[in-house]
Amino acid sequence: MASELSTHLELGSSLTVPNVQELASAISSSEIPERYLRPEAEARVVDSIDDDELPVIDLMKLVDPELFDKEELSRLGLACREWGFFQLINHGVAKEMIEKTKNDIMGFFKLPLKEKEAFKQLPGQIEGYGQMFVHSEEQKLDWADMLTLVTKPHKDMRFWPINPSSFRDTIDKYTLKIENVVDCLYALMAKDLGIDPKVMLKNLSKQMQSIRINYYPPCKEANKVLGLSPHSDGIALTVLLQANDVNGLQIKKNNKWLLVKPKPGAFIVNIGDMLEIMTNGKYKSVEHRAVINMEEARLSIATFHLPNTDVILRPFPELINGDGELYKTISVKEYSKEYFSEKLNGKSALESMKLKK
Ligand code: OGA
Ligand code: NI
Repeated sequence: MASELSTHLELGSSLTVPNVQELASAISSSEIPERYLRPEAEARVVDSIDDDELPVIDLMKLVDPELFDKEELSRLGLACREWGFFQLINHGVAKEMIEKTKNDIMGFFKLPLKEKEAFKQLPGQIEGYGQMFVHSEEQKLDWADMLTLVTKPHKDMRFWPINPSSFRDTIDKYTLKIENVVDCLYALMAKDLGIDPKVMLKNLSKQMQSIRINYYPPCKEANKVLGLSPHSDGIALTVLLQANDVNGLQIKKNNKWLLVKPKPGAFIVNIGDMLEIMTNGKYKSVEHRAVINMEEARLSIATFHLPNTDVILRPFPELINGDGELYKTISVKEYSKEYFSEKLNGKSALESMKLKK
């Protein structure tokens, strides 16, 4: 057990960077430090996704036998194959729980720096309060602070805030509910893919789970900075909750950045690199990024799900068709190490796994 714990924590590390929340409140816009200036952010081509464009999946229509709707399942399949993203509504997680989660995570970020820093990252680790993916002193920096916590298989309570006093309990309850939603989705995806749901769940269910709470301070020159660099998620499946009413998630579609506008109470679900590999490319892990608001801070909580570190990532046999396997065979641990050893850079980690055909 102890060795599994240390293995997980050794998956990555990041250089220490300034606290962006403090920086943002201390400077005027003309003083944005050079390392945060992102020329590529300025040239952003942004189309807003019409409410009905990013697929919206109604979970109730898929899990309630009386309401079961075959077309809803095709929509889920299409979303995973063509968008890599969808909104999930009627997911059964109570409104009160979502509100409590939003309040408690906001409560943490509102604390004075000193109190937050009691939970800061330690050298050589990625859990805790700080930043991730920073590997050189020259690298451009994202306009955000993060709190990363592993919820499964082992929690390291050193990094778990004690204020708000209900924080730990809230996150435990929230992540458990999210895990159940994710298991439902895995079983439905198996149906769509034509594989045995039991096999899908055996490979993916209830293994590793972690959260990343992203705090994006406002910036008067929002179009000169980036909240989160373009990336795909290096895990199997992500469930994101935008925790206040400020939009900022953009996904790349047809080489354009599209702004996601979550419906009230909806989760944004996306396919990660590991699921793309395990479906032999049938499901897509799509590049996305976060932009900054001029006036208001933005807050989101991403819940990541992936198989245990010793699992070997391989396509399900039913999905290896005429083309054979499209990706190198790699363990979860090796892939994670590769992912965390580089700055966020689009889909570069996943691209390096593709076998040339
Ligand atoms: C992430 C992510 C987007 C957002 O944490 O991986 O893509 O809107 N977050 O915060
Ligand atoms: Ni992401």
